Amino acid sequence: MFLPRIKKSNIGKKVYKLRNSFLILIVFLLLYVCSDSSQQISGLQKQVYELQKKVDESYKPGLGEFMSNIQIHHAKLWFAGINKNWKLAEFEIDEISELIEDIKKYESGREEVKVLPIINPAIDSIKSSIKSKDLSSFKSSFTTLTATCNACHKEVHYEFNKIKIPDSPPFSNQEFKK
Ligand code: HEC
Repeated sequence: MFLPRIKKSNIGKKVYKLRNSFLILIVFLLLYVCSDSSQQISGLQKQVYELQKKVDESYKPGLGEFMSNIQIHHAKLWFAGINKNWKLAEFEIDEISELIEDIKKYESGREEVKVLPIINPAIDSIKSSIKSKDLSSFKSSFTTLTATCNACHKEVHYEFNKIKIPDSPPFSNQEFKK
């Protein structure tokens, strides 16, 4: 039977060509996949950038606003306490605690916030005087709390914001008596 003679070297060339085309195909595939994922990455980068911009531009209260809020609860706390309205007093000191936590969370960029923890012992002693419904201990820990507000203001050069024990209730439309 007649069989065409195939030179060994011809087969070798064909395999070699096939392998080359295969390699080229793989390179193109890789390039395609890479360009696709780099497109995805730049899309994601754009999204991250836009979200970051939104976060930066979103409203958050400043330290002064948090402080003005604390000031209100400080005054309410006094009138609740001296009227032995312990439930309201507990509510007011908890509001102050929450605002302190919010300051740590939202105003961590302000250098002064590092001094904030000096207020913790005063808050704790108010809380325990409220728990034990002890009026004289409440009054003395409130005096310490107020002194601590001023100690911090002094430390961070805002000593002109001087806090004192209030003379009259901050609002006429709220009952402080039990
Ligand atoms: C970090 C220590 C720190 C502590 C503790 C602190 N303050 Fe302040 N307070 C500040 C700083 C800083 C400012 C100035 C904020 C600003 O930039 O407007 C301020 C400002 C204020 C102001 C003026 C707000 C305004 O805009 O008119 C009041 C009122 C105030 N604090 C009340 C209090 C009371 C009440 C307490 C205690 C229960 C207290 N602060 C505890 C640091 C402190």
